Amino acid sequence: MAISDYPRAILAHSPTPLEAMPNLSRMLGGPSLLVKRDDCTGLAMGGNKARQLEFYFGDAQAQGADTVIITGAVQSNFVRMTAAAAAKLGMACEIQLENRVATKTLEYKVSGNVLLDRLLGAKIHYFPEGEDEAGADKGLEDIAERVRGEGGKPYVIHLSPGHPPLGALGYVVGAGEILDQIAEQGIQVDVIVLASGSAATHAGVLVGLRHRDSDIKVIGVCVRRQQDQQFDRVLNQANTVAEMVGLSNAITKGDIHVTDDYLGPGYGQSSPEMLEAMALAAREEGLLLDPVYTGKALAGLIGLVRSDAFSQEQTVLFLHTGGTPALFGYRTILDGI
Ligand SMILES: Cc1ncc(COP(=O)(O)O)c(C=O)c1O
Repeated sequence: MAISDYPRAILAHSPTPLEAMPNLSRMLGGPSLLVKRDDCTGLAMGGNKARQLEFYFGDAQAQGADTVIITGAVQSNFVRMTAAAAAKLGMACEIQLENRVATKTLEYKVSGNVLLDRLLGAKIHYFPEGEDEAGADKGLEDIAERVRGEGGKPYVIHLSPGHPPLGALGYVVGAGEILDQIAEQGIQVDVIVLASGSAATHAGVLVGLRHRDSDIKVIGVCVRRQQDQQFDRVLNQANTVAEMVGLSNAITKGDIHVTDDYLGPGYGQSSPEMLEAMALAAREEGLLLDPVYTGKALAGLIGLVRSDAFSQEQTVLFLHTGGTPALFGYRTILDGI
């Protein structure tokens, strides 16, 4: 199937800007650094999920659904943007918030994305265990069953492996957008650095690049799992996505680069490198990162520059995947900044 054959609801503001980061580049003294501003995709404060949701909501609409159901961490950006997309498209939204992070502050529970979920009118459910992907999926099925019983037509956005990673198609498109922009601006990009979580963004970007015969290297900074597990996840997902867009055998082990050196104590937990990256982005470039994803991803980029992983002649593009509202939910871990 060609990507244009998949139903798609247009949700993201695109193309998002692709900008230089001159101050950070100068300060680090390594390669030229660019940023792709996918924090500017709109849909209730932006982020990578706007692109991913275009394909989930396209599918939901094609199936005649009237209620969209999704699970995520309490401060999930995906959940918040799903609530926004549902509102925009006139659908109901039920969300399951998983206790994935030990943080028990009031801000974490009620501010940031949670505040927006409520404002956007989503019905909130809670799930106790954050690392039980199959259990969380089962929770979604229970909600779907109830919606069906009430005469509704539910559509579940499944994020665990084993379900078609429709969202990754958004980044097959997103990678094409990057290639168009660098061609228009007459620049060359050697490496893209991004946060690698569910791996939909990572896999989609990789497939999108190879689909257009680009050999740009993609480095995923692990934000949720150790690198061995993430490596397999990205490889499997990329091959699934490649098949979905008719590009068989395109992705090999040599295409997958992941590092867990910047994961810190774990998902959603602070590290000195993440705090430094957030402060540098804000104070050198006026860019707001979040502590869970983009702070760690930029910490990875900075760490790689400092360990001479790139030459001065290279250009490295940081994919800013959003997450801004989570800043407020995680206020207390930024106390020392
Ligand atoms: C702000 C932000 N960046 C990056 C990611 C990771 O993207 P993916 O799950 O596609 O790997 C997420 C996922 O929730 C996110 O919210």
